[in-house]
Amino acid sequence: MILKQPKQVVLITVYDKVNDRTNIITIGWHSLISLNPLIYGIIIKSSHYSYELIREQKELCINFMSYEYKNQALICGTKSGRVVDKFKLTGLKSLKSGISADSISEAYLILECRVLEEHEIGDHVLIACSVINTVKRDVDYKPLICTSWSEFTTLSDDK
Ligand SMILES: Cc1cc2nc3c(=O)[nH]c(=O)nc-3n(C[C@H](O)[C@H](O)[C@H](O)COP(=O)(O)O)c2cc1C
Repeated sequence: MILKQPKQVVLITVYDKVNDRTNIITIGWHSLISLNPLIYGIIIKSSHYSYELIREQKELCINFMSYEYKNQALICGTKSGRVVDKFKLTGLKSLKSGISADSISEAYLILECRVLEEHEIGDHVLIACSVINTVKRDVDYKPLICTSWSEFTTLSDDK
């Protein structure tokens, strides 16, 4: 089935002014688009609450998480920030960033981004973001990969 392809999962954080908190959304559709300048793309459904927030704020953090955070990724990918505080619900710790959104303290790599441009394509929107700051933690990690919208795996150590 078309959605059954392995994808690395990231958690996007974006500031929610109405609730005065940062929301988290799980995203499997994303990619580096340009190296110089550094531009990263995410693909988000236009009906998601997070898309509303991104349109308002025009900035977001892309948080790369290790496999051990699969349960938190599932929660952030099935609950809506319209009704829940996903930091509270998942127990993830927020970390101040250089933009309006907090980032996630447990992430091994954080890209702080400003929205550069967006394109509505079908029922999703491709958002190209300029990476304005990168934060890398010197920790061991195993990439968090989804094989469907509810199943997760990681890479084996075997070569
Ligand atoms: C593993 C996984 C990957 C997902 N990938 C995407 C994605 O790439 N784009 C998207 O729009 N939604 C994706 N979703 C769905 C959203 O994360 C989900 O609808 C979320 O609850 C929306 O949150 P919000 O209402 O706070 O914006 C994914 C969900 C899961 C579980």
